[in-house]
This record gives sequence, C-alpha cells and structure tokens, in this order.
Amino acid sequence: MNILAIGDIVGRCGRDALSFWLPEFIEENHVDFVIANGENASHGKGINESASNLLFDIGVDVITMGNHTWGNKDIFSLLEYDNRIIRPANMPQGTPGHGFNRYQKNGVTIGVINVLGRVYMEPMDDPFMAAKNAVLDLQQDCDLIFVDMHAEATSEKMALGWFLDGMVTAVFGTHTHVQTSDERISNKGTAYITDLGMTGAMYSVLGMERQIVIDRFVKKLPSKFQLADGAAQINGALFSIEDGTKTVQSVSRIFVKK
Ligand code: FE2
Repeated sequence: MNILAIGDIVGRCGRDALSFWLPEFIEENHVDFVIANGENASHGKGINESASNLLFDIGVDVITMGNHTWGNKDIFSLLEYDNRIIRPANMPQGTPGHGFNRYQKNGVTIGVINVLGRVYMEPMDDPFMAAKNAVLDLQQDCDLIFVDMHAEATSEKMALGWFLDGMVTAVFGTHTHVQTSDERISNKGTAYITDLGMTGAMYSVLGMERQIVIDRFVKKLPSKFQLADGAAQINGALFSIEDGTKTVQSVSRIFVKK
C-alpha cells in the first residue's frame, strides 16, 4: 500500500493547489491513506471547519497540527467531534483532543502520532516520552505507525527519528516549510525525512508575502503578515509499504509546482 504525507498546507493558495492535485495523484499512484499537516490551512494560522471539510473531501484521511493548533477557534469543536484531527501529544495534560489515534483503511490499522518540538519553540512536555508512550499504545493493534514531529530544529527531529528507530513505520518532520533531501530507510526499517516542506505559495517567505517579511527584517518595524498567492508548490513524501510484511520499501520526496 501507499501512504502519502503532505507538508504544512498554508492558506488558500495551499488548499487550492492541493485540491487541484491530490485527487488525481491518489488515483494515479494508488494512494491508500493521506496524512496532512493542517496547522496553517486557514489564513496561515490554525484550521477552521470549512478547511478541514475540504481536506477530507479531497482525500486527506488525517490532519495533524502543531504550534498553531489554537490559531482558529473552530479547532475546539473539531478536536472534540472529529478524531481525524490530532494535535501534538506532548501538550499539557487536560488539553482538548488527542495526540495520536488509530485508523482503519483498506483492511490495515494505521496509527498516527503528532508531537511538537521544544527547541526554539514554546515550552512543552517532553516529545520523546510522549511519542514513545503513544507508540507503546498503538503497537498493540496497529500494522503501521507514522509520526509527525512538528519542530524547528533539525537535530531534534533527527534525534526523535533515531529514538523511535525500529519502533515505527516512519518519522517525518513538519513546521519549517522547507523540504529536506535526507529521506532514508534505516537498517531497522524506519523511514525518515527531516521536513516534508510546505504546500503553499512558491514565491514567498514560508507562504507569506515576501516584501512584508523583508521589511520586517530590514526596517525592524511591526507589520502584519499577509498570505502570498500565485504559483504554488505541493510538498510531501510517499511511503510505499509491502502488503505482507508491512515494511517500508521506499520513501520518495514530492515537490510539485502548480
Ligand atoms: Fe508550525
């Protein structure tokens, strides 16, 4: 089977590009299951109900979040009523929603875990222990386990990849909006890529209007970010799984221009 992971979907540009591209890609590549990071899907921060409905309509099975989980107030009801959306597992105890979940698709049970890094980010509970505890739970009945490590520092993501080596199907990073070219499969059979990249405006700074970002750096004056538009990129990775052994056969980066 084939499992697709999509990097941070940013605003309307990212949603439109993905809507245009994903259904055909799923069909042509026999994709069984799609995980997408949606924490920037609505206005660049958070996700609302209409954006999550759209993503599910076009073929996304699970939406993961990150540091912008609470960017749109719709998330509170979405996390309560829709188990297809998960937020980082290492948020404080009592936080609404779930940090991992299991899903049935085409006769296979797939576990998905979302964790948030702590390096150059807001303080949070330990992502390593949160991920390990989630894995121990999911291992009981899941055929496959995927981990979205939403983090700034490459070292933290790599360390988590090795920490979970041999315990999960794949660890992929999100958050930086820049795709890395370090995809690999370890000797123990875990696929890894430091960052999937971004699905959003290509000629931008991480999905935002570039002149505003430049001005903020040059003039050091406060100004509001605006989402960029125009040509889009779709970033992600496709994991090919052997049906019998449920082991990863390949991981292929996806960088499509639209
Ligand atoms: Fe983020």
